[in-house]
Amino acid sequence: MGEEKSLSLEGVRRGVSSGIDRALSMKLKTLSIGFQNACLGEVAMVGAIADASVLATYVFSKYKPPKNVIERISIKARDKHQPVLKRAILTSENANFLKEWISESPTIMNTAEMEKLCREVCEKAGLKVTVFGEEKLREMGMEMILAVGRGASSGPRMILAEYNGGASGKKKIALVGKGITFDSGGMNLKPTGHIETMKIDKAGALTVLAAMKTAAELKLNVNIIGIMPFCENMIGPNSYKPGDILRSYSGKTVEITNTDAEGRLILGDALAYAVEQKPDCIIDLATLTGACVAALGEFTAGLFSSDKELVKKLYESGEITGERVWHLPLHKDYSKEMEGNISDLKNALTGRVPGAVMGAAFLQNFVGKTPWAHLDIAGTAWWDKKRYYVPQGPTGWGVRLLADFLEKM
Ligand code: BES
Ligand code: ZN
Ligand code: ZN
Repeated sequence: MGEEKSLSLEGVRRGVSSGIDRALSMKLKTLSIGFQNACLGEVAMVGAIADASVLATYVFSKYKPPKNVIERISIKARDKHQPVLKRAILTSENANFLKEWISESPTIMNTAEMEKLCREVCEKAGLKVTVFGEEKLREMGMEMILAVGRGASSGPRMILAEYNGGASGKKKIALVGKGITFDSGGMNLKPTGHIETMKIDKAGALTVLAAMKTAAELKLNVNIIGIMPFCENMIGPNSYKPGDILRSYSGKTVEITNTDAEGRLILGDALAYAVEQKPDCIIDLATLTGACVAALGEFTAGLFSSDKELVKKLYESGEITGERVWHLPLHKDYSKEMEGNISDLKNALTGRVPGAVMGAAFLQNFVGKTPWAHLDIAGTAWWDKKRYYVPQGPTGWGVRLLADFLEKM
């Protein structure tokens, strides 16, 4: 774990994961972890050890069972550490569920399956669930969600989950997540090298689901509405096209300049709906842009917000959980660039533009004055290789960040 004076909770998590890797290579079945010097505080250290133990032992085993598995880890802790152990194990197990949901074939995990999954998870966790199908979306005028979903054989859905754990006077938070079950790019088809991992594109929505499951299971004292638009972005005789002009739920019109900039479309309608629910704040999570991966890589998510308090809180939760965020700009100069010629907005620009910022600037048009933060998780949601306690593939990123953030509301 290195020297005491430079030790962080992330260092503890990584230390535990190297111990687990070593134990696996030695074919050990059980493992016991303890510490003698609680230099970062006992509670925090026990939590970090439990997190890493749960996260580092996860494998997606359905199609290829692992050669070696660790059957039991015991953590040396005191009786009074039971609550932090329980919280860490439960939260990290939900991050593992998130990895499991995303790892499965995208053909299986289509929008109908997302509805089934949301219903199951919500029912078990005691959350209220509401599903808007195609007909309802048409009635409401959610043309952007309908357009993105039109090329697929499994139709679009918008799914709401509600958790009311807050006493009166407690905050109401809207969590909105991008739920593209597979992003082919549509008519602006993605090339080889970019399309292979696109089952990740539902990570935003499923992180919202996993975070709400966590909040309910931990009985957090807060109210949450989760808004999860699900579509499959496909090519077919009915798919939407570049040049199409859509009337969004908010009333703003949008010209489609690129069918691969589909996330901001479904989020635009979902955010406008979120605003109507009068939450104290909105946080959205989306694997929105390749440009964010270019800017920040896989360790840090892009954070866009003009609300100082949200920025501070999300940043602090990021530092504590190791799911880090970095504040990127969002102001009028950028949003003006997204204005259309024959419509209020266009959905994408071409040329040398800051893609992650432009994505955020587009979304800003749909949140009005509600305090809002956008997390671009395109880099953090999927890792090209295993590092420390995070496996190759879906990382489960964001569940622990949101749990920490919600707990402190
Ligand atoms: N789902 C992608 C973004 C993405 C890229 C997620 C890499 C995860 C890893 C998104 O829908 C997309 O294709 N964005 C375009 C936007 C562009 C057309 C303005 C992009 O980033 O190229
Ligand atoms: Zn796309
Ligand atoms: Zn996408």
